[in-house]
Amino acid sequence: MSEKQRLVVVSNRVGPLSDEGKAGGLAVGLADALRRRGGLWFGWSGETTKDGTAGEASRETVGEVELVTIDMTEEELAGFYLGYANRALWPLLHYRLDLVHFDREADRVYRAVNARVAERLKQFLRDDDIVWVHDYHFFYLGNELRKQGFTGRLGFFLHIPFSPPEMFAALPGANDMVRAMLAYDLVGFQTATDRRNFANYAKHELDGQKQPDDRIRVGNRTITAKVFPIGIDAEGFAEFARSGEAEEHAAMLRSNVGRSLPIVGVDRLDYSKGIIERLLGFERLLEQYPDRVGGVQFLQVAPLSRSEVEEYVDLRGEFEGLVGRINGRFATLDWTPVHIMTTGLTRRALAGIYRAARVCMVTPLRDGMNLVAKEFVAAQDEADPGVLVLSRFAGARAELGEALIVNPYATDHVANAIERALRMSLEERQRRWRAMRDKVFANTAADWCRAFLDALEAAEPDGGVEALLP
Ligand code: G6P
Repeated sequence: MSEKQRLVVVSNRVGPLSDEGKAGGLAVGLADALRRRGGLWFGWSGETTKDGTAGEASRETVGEVELVTIDMTEEELAGFYLGYANRALWPLLHYRLDLVHFDREADRVYRAVNARVAERLKQFLRDDDIVWVHDYHFFYLGNELRKQGFTGRLGFFLHIPFSPPEMFAALPGANDMVRAMLAYDLVGFQTATDRRNFANYAKHELDGQKQPDDRIRVGNRTITAKVFPIGIDAEGFAEFARSGEAEEHAAMLRSNVGRSLPIVGVDRLDYSKGIIERLLGFERLLEQYPDRVGGVQFLQVAPLSRSEVEEYVDLRGEFEGLVGRINGRFATLDWTPVHIMTTGLTRRALAGIYRAARVCMVTPLRDGMNLVAKEFVAAQDEADPGVLVLSRFAGARAELGEALIVNPYATDHVANAIERALRMSLEERQRRWRAMRDKVFANTAADWCRAFLDALEAAEPDGGVEALLP
């Protein structure tokens, strides 16, 4: 990709570009990529105003990166973000049809926000920019940009899973959404399963044809759909784990657990993360292995997320109730089995906690990648590495097969895996960890970014760049 061409990244959440923040997966991966290459990052300010349409975009330059953000109106926040993105698309794409809410008005607002964002973004675009759109908030954005006359390269990356076609088909307007995705020249997925689900949808529902070189043809339009597993800045995170702030937090954790072995989980409080199932597994451990009572402590860091959404309010109640039950059942005067925190921690503090942990539980019911798994690996000390217990349903499972792989729904299986992790010899811990470390360091955020942009350059679009969906 020519160095002259500017990279324009679009995502709902923008920043922080510094490494001090408490940001999650997507923002961290993108910040790494943008800091390296420079460019423009466009998205939501996180604020609502009475009149988001007329509001000025705010601009800020950090190093080589220009951040441009716009506000949303209350109606947009309710329909686009809380309603459609987080109550329809998020559960649908995480295989949770039972939690999906399809709402015609939210669908309308979602499409309108995609159109409005395209219109606002277009004012900042040059003809030869490379535009890279991120995640499920913006499936229609590429199509809208084409309608506005943008002819440059357009790429899209989905950070979360893509559900199987039979499930995706439950979305009213599913065909529109996939047709709109065909406006992108390159569509990227975390895993081969996600890509296959998308390709099969296009094949079965839109009469698409699979072509060589990861290409898919629908009507007279051919696009590339490819797998790009996202990585982390492994070197940077390993350095965080050796920082003073990390050491302080590691020491706090150790003194807090006393003679117990620390087990940790770190996730946004989200039903896709399998936090409830993990706690049930921990409770089963205490039932099945009474020697562990008093000898382990489970720390769950669970920053609150999407707190206005009903399913998240319910989850919080269930989470706190279950923690109360386990503590009530097993606590003694000098020992509490489960410790929870819902405030966020800095990335350095987290790195310290990972380093001090004996076991890290990454047990989502479904997850696009899960960067906690990779960060935990990067943070370990070779002399005494902890054990990763990883769900078979996390995207990271495709790369980190040396973790202890579990089915998060099988409570006994989870309990036995924790017990096995606690008993694991130093030699076995080191052997598994080294294998995972090599992979985490071999596919970093920078590699991911480079691979995607190279493929975007190579993805010669066929069938014109006009919008496919009116
Ligand atoms: C996931 C999504 C991101 C999202 C993040 C935090 O990682 O892939 O797009 O930004 O969760 O969720 P939130 O709703 O707070 O942006």
